[in-house]
Amino acid sequence: MTPPHPSAYPSFPVSRPRRLRRTPPLRRLVAETRLHPADLVLPMFVKESLTEPSPLGSMPGVLQHTRDSLKAAAVEAVSAGVGGLMIFGIPAERDAVGTAASEPDGILNLALADLKAEVGDATVLMADLCLDEFTDHGHCGVLDARGAVDNDATLVRYAEMALAQAAAGADLLGTSGMMDGQVGHIRGALDGSGNIDTGIFAYAAKYASAFYGPFREAVDSALIGDRRTYQQDPANRRESAREVALDLAEGADLVMVKPAMSYLDVLSDVAASVDVPVAAYQVSGEYAMVEAAAAHGWIDRDRAVLETLTSIRRAGASIILTYWATEVATKLNAGR
Ligand code: PBG
Repeated sequence: MTPPHPSAYPSFPVSRPRRLRRTPPLRRLVAETRLHPADLVLPMFVKESLTEPSPLGSMPGVLQHTRDSLKAAAVEAVSAGVGGLMIFGIPAERDAVGTAASEPDGILNLALADLKAEVGDATVLMADLCLDEFTDHGHCGVLDARGAVDNDATLVRYAEMALAQAAAGADLLGTSGMMDGQVGHIRGALDGSGNIDTGIFAYAAKYASAFYGPFREAVDSALIGDRRTYQQDPANRRESAREVALDLAEGADLVMVKPAMSYLDVLSDVAASVDVPVAAYQVSGEYAMVEAAAAHGWIDRDRAVLETLTSIRRAGASIILTYWATEVATKLNAGR
């Protein structure tokens, strides 16, 4: 016997969710999550003694900048309406304690001062506060006699870096080193030197992730090994609540979860439990995966880019660090 057509039951189905998906304007009206240029932060790399900007093989479209090209790209990003810039510096000389990180004429501090003058009134300037770009061993801190990262000796260097970055004009310091007590120690150093307005953008939940791979090329990393003795184990979820609570107790102004896409559960937990702005960092490997698959014609690049960012917003981030920030902001402005 042929089963009756569904319309034989006049009241079935009672609800038809597809009604609200029928046209683009209906879908736009009921969208629960929107992306806005001001929510996007562009991470940028500036390298000392470069004469031309240098493209990164593992991050097509991303450059290591000269001081001049950094300024130009910053102006472009700010004109597109991005919410802020996160600056990473690559020095010409490295040593065991990352001396260049805290010198006023170190590349990161010079670049921050350049940007302060160029776009400082129009954007939020952020600096990576970590030693890994500056040490000859590539670790995020200084090493003890056995070669382990020495937490408390590292805090001394972080405080020196913080003062240099504040003096150069950074609005927010991105504490990305995952040392215990770093936020409190840096807050104390800032306050003790009168830098009460300089904020701390805490990389509060930061995992030891394979997705930082392309970043190693971006900063010419010297690291051998990994960062598992200080960054979090990807297996852990509740541990992030502890890390976030510690950073907030120590005076963090904003907190971040990093990476983004493989950690949306963590992001969702954090967003539901804190009362400060929550950010997520869509890291180099997340960018590279989409670009690589798209270059093979295996996924629709533009849709995939927006889908990743939308998922990060949906999970609870109010701010997203992404290497696509300028491009996506430009498209959002054009209504695409
Ligand atoms: C540390 C730092 C890293 C990233 C941002 N800040 C590297 C690391 O922790 O190993 C990674 C960013 C990315 O992969 O896009 N200075």
